[in-house]
Amino acid sequence: MKGIVVSILMTIPILTSAFYTRQSPDRRTYTHESITEVGTLQALSSYIWKNKLKQVGSEISAVEVFYEKDATSKIEMGKSINAIVQAIADTQVEKKDIAYVHCHADQILLAHQHVISCRDKLSQLKNDVVELRKQLGECLYTVQLFYSNTNWVEMYGEVPYEDFGIKGKRLMAVALPEEDTCKDVKNTDLNCGQNIIVKDKLTSGYHHGRGNTKPTRPQGATTGKCSHGGPNDESRKMVAKCGINKETFIERLSPHHYLHRRAYLSAVAATKDFLIMEDTGILSLLGNKTFDEIFHIKTRKDLSLAFVIDYSGSMKEEIAAVKERTIQHVTATIGSDNEPADYVLSLFNDPVTMNEAFVFRDGYEIIKKIDSIKVDGGGDCPEFAADGILKGTIYHTSKEEINVVLDAIIEKTFPVAEVIVDSFEWSLTSDDNTMFVVDSTVTVLKVAVCCPGEDSGVELFYPNGTKETFASRLSRKLVTNRKEVIISLQHPPPGRYNLERSLPYKWSVNITAQSPVKLETEIFEYTESGALPILKGSPIAGKNYTFYVNIYNLGENGTCNDLILTDILGNALFNIPIIQTTTLMAVRCAAIFTTPNQV
Ligand SMILES: *[C@@H]1O[C@H](CO)[C@@H](O)[C@H](O)[C@H]1NC(C)=O
Ligand SMILES: *[C@@H]1O[C@H](CO)[C@@H](O)[C@H](O)[C@H]1NC(C)=O
Ligand SMILES: *[C@@H]1O[C@H](CO)[C@@H](O)[C@H](O)[C@H]1NC(C)=O
Ligand SMILES: *[C@@H]1O[C@H](CO)[C@@H](O)[C@H](O)[C@H]1NC(C)=O
Ligand SMILES: *[C@@H]1O[C@H](CO)[C@@H](O)[C@H](O)[C@H]1NC(C)=O
Repeated sequence: MKGIVVSILMTIPILTSAFYTRQSPDRRTYTHESITEVGTLQALSSYIWKNKLKQVGSEISAVEVFYEKDATSKIEMGKSINAIVQAIADTQVEKKDIAYVHCHADQILLAHQHVISCRDKLSQLKNDVVELRKQLGECLYTVQLFYSNTNWVEMYGEVPYEDFGIKGKRLMAVALPEEDTCKDVKNTDLNCGQNIIVKDKLTSGYHHGRGNTKPTRPQGATTGKCSHGGPNDESRKMVAKCGINKETFIERLSPHHYLHRRAYLSAVAATKDFLIMEDTGILSLLGNKTFDEIFHIKTRKDLSLAFVIDYSGSMKEEIAAVKERTIQHVTATIGSDNEPADYVLSLFNDPVTMNEAFVFRDGYEIIKKIDSIKVDGGGDCPEFAADGILKGTIYHTSKEEINVVLDAIIEKTFPVAEVIVDSFEWSLTSDDNTMFVVDSTVTVLKVAVCCPGEDSGVELFYPNGTKETFASRLSRKLVTNRKEVIISLQHPPPGRYNLERSLPYKWSVNITAQSPVKLETEIFEYTESGALPILKGSPIAGKNYTFYVNIYNLGENGTCNDLILTDILGNALFNIPIIQTTTLMAVRCAAIFTTPNQV
């Protein structure tokens, strides 16, 4: 494929059937995204303050304090919330024709039961956080839009309905099928504010095209069922005309627009309750551990990277594998926020008196120690050393899988914020000097050259022209088993570096860095409702897609000015006009593009 043509600036569709999911018709309007972010962060603040910070400091700043020295973990937390938001958006599209999912057509009791069974499904998914987040999004969709689509807010203002969606709770009365709930109005675009006639019972609007049909009333009738309202709902033209939705601040779209902020506040409170309410929240349903995993509530300060090695007998390959992974991880993260708190090495052997355990703060020390292990004879007793020394999750692995398992565990437990500075084949014909640029956000720089070995003739020069001699504690040169040379620099001064080759060999080079800035891109389908479901499969030629780039940790004044699409070789193809928005978690650049017809 050649590339992607960008045709237009983003236009915001104006049709929906609940709160807007992620973009809204104006900047002030609240969306499922803002409701979820604010409600979830309130819940996490409260939870972290009580359970992780022992109630020290203030509850409001608990999230900031908890992740203060671990920007990468905070980004993971932000991405977990983003995944739930996306599941909410997907639900709006995929369940479009199921009226009770949207509380439409007085199907409020069914909506109540839907949330109950949705919550029940959560406990069955305990071991799969990805599916859990999706299911959670499905539940939260109905929990939140209850406040836009029913008359709860008209009756009770901005408080959440604590019984809604809770097993064993009886809902208050809901309008009967034959009962009129709204009075007719002359002008469907105006004066709809006070149209509800039922008191002390719940009702919601009909919405044509959403799996329900509004009952007709005889000619001249002055009352009938309520509609959802807004230009996309044809039922608003039937008696009782107009509608009751509160999904925006805009009168033309939302007959009860003046209650939008209250609907938002109650939906935020209901979201918080759904997560952490005593007894009924998913925290008590799923427990601390799963809750921590759903939202990535952990930092490196709690985590050691530990290896348990049986060094009796034929463990040579395993020890080599552990050494390799440790070198790769340590050299990439040392001195950055992404480093494990410490490293544990537990060695066991026959007889038991030869068992030893070590804790290292400095990653280079564990590498040195592993190097010094001598493989002796003896039987093995794998369960022994794990006992009492390690409190975390213990993974067992067979010889064949050790590399894969080590990779997976380290990647999952210690995600790194790695950016690729450069990656190239150093062919015989190319220049012996190569330049690359390091910016001031970089905390660790790693240069990997494969595979010249010890006396490699590979030299690194600082921007000021000085050759690195590895005399300081902040820089290291290590050689792995496959003779790969790794140079690791902590807090490198920004500027243009020079890598020099003094022997005529063909090598490959990867230069990577730890930087607190991280990108996430998302591509969405275009829908008439503007709900932005995630793209499944590949883009189809000639169709419009919305493209988000979420930039985490860009700082409060960060901006995105251009999105440049490139081909596989990195050549710039097009600049895409973008719209920048800022969510609670990230700076977001959004753009719409049309895939080209030609390939
Ligand atoms: C969650 O953690 C807190 C404090 O660490 C503890 O008191 C509480 O019992 C835990 N709850 C569950 C469900 O594990
Ligand atoms: C560079 O990265 C690629 C892809 O991850 C990997 O296959 C290759 O071995 C790396 N080369 C070096 C020198 O680390
Ligand atoms: C050049 O920069 C390096 C790294 O900051 C520093 O260690 C070295 O002393 C500098 N050399 C000179 C001549 O200023
Ligand atoms: C894509 O967007 C352009 C510009 O708004 C519009 O003219 C075109 O009809 C859209 N195409 C599709 C398939 O929706
Ligand atoms: C962001 O901009 C404001 C106003 O220009 C300034 O006061 C503030 O110091 C800036 N913050 C950062 C982190 O640069």
